[in-house]
Amino acid sequence: MKLGYYSPSRRGGAIFVSLKKLSTVLAILMFLLATSPTFAKASITKTVYGKTGDGKEVNEYTLTNSNGAEVKIITYGGIITSLRVPDRNGNLDNIVLGFNKLVDYETKNPYFGALIGRYGNRIANAKFALDGKDYTLAANNGSNSLHGGNKGFDKVVWEAKEVSGDANVGLELSYLSSDGEEGYPGNLTVKVVYTLTADNAIKIDYTAATDKATVVNLTHHSYFNLGGNGSGPIYNEVLQVNADKYTPVDATLIPTGELADVTGTPFDFRNPKTIGSGIRSGDEQVVLGRGYDHNFVLNRADKTALEKAAYLYDPATGRGMEVWTTEPGLQFYTGNFLDGTLVGSSGGMYRQGEGLCLETQHFPDSPNHSAFPSTELKPGDTYQSTTIYKFVVD
Ligand code: GLA
Repeated sequence: MKLGYYSPSRRGGAIFVSLKKLSTVLAILMFLLATSPTFAKASITKTVYGKTGDGKEVNEYTLTNSNGAEVKIITYGGIITSLRVPDRNGNLDNIVLGFNKLVDYETKNPYFGALIGRYGNRIANAKFALDGKDYTLAANNGSNSLHGGNKGFDKVVWEAKEVSGDANVGLELSYLSSDGEEGYPGNLTVKVVYTLTADNAIKIDYTAATDKATVVNLTHHSYFNLGGNGSGPIYNEVLQVNADKYTPVDATLIPTGELADVTGTPFDFRNPKTIGSGIRSGDEQVVLGRGYDHNFVLNRADKTALEKAAYLYDPATGRGMEVWTTEPGLQFYTGNFLDGTLVGSSGGMYRQGEGLCLETQHFPDSPNHSAFPSTELKPGDTYQSTTIYKFVVD
């Protein structure tokens, strides 16, 4: 056997051949590792998204995991502008509503994809009292205050820091809301970390601290459509919610204070059912909300643990979304105020019911309901909340 100077003997030749084979195998392995999505690492990239009307630069971060799932987040409002996850055939599609331009988010956003604060959902008559002091907020929803007021956390530019590990990739957003901002007391330092995990989940960790007693209720306001952004209404999607009770509302969508049993009502989602099955029921509460726009009182084994709150499933694409949270409530909103006036990132306009929100939260108007779990944050304490939206195929 002629194997060159490296192979003085037959035995040496065998070693040389196997070394050669080994290096070929290694090269193939390296190639597979580099190209196979299974072994690709999670990544994060940053681009300039635009400038706000008042001249602040806004960046967009793209987080991708090893399966190709991808989320885009802008520093304006901490908004998720796009979220691509696979269907049962492995096809990735954007499953959240949004816009293509910053100016649209600044001027006409019905909270698509946004971080909500200081107070998610409504505070009655834009007023509350704390430690014997009265506070007045902006009445930006009839006489009530909604989602933090005129310039809530959905309309501010957040500081961003990339957080990356091998399997997970994250973006840490920080904001200092100064004492008196939108009428709320205390300098509030807020941190929100979005993590895209290797198993196709978006984890949102919220923390906040204050230097004066205040109220805090942070949430995230993506409008999901598991069939794909712009694919039509969500009425055929199937929802299951772990809640025996919900909080009925008055005509201005403020909770009456009652914790009503869901049994025998369109609010009974304890067993999975299509959203469409109850949305035209004529039930007084559904009519008041123009559909579902209600807070569910989550059944919890442990007050503070991360527990499964809901499961949403789209039979057409096989996409499923689990919602896990440490929060006591879940606002289920079926995009009732979408009226065909907004042209979105799908390229078309959004009509009623083309997206749904599952906003994990403390109950609306808690500062005016002492029987509801408290939303008060005192100096020295840390507000902590975690929610996971996990995407699966079924
Ligand atoms: C929340 C509210 C709804 C509506 C949307 C935003 O989900 O409960 O009533 O205001 O936000 O349009």
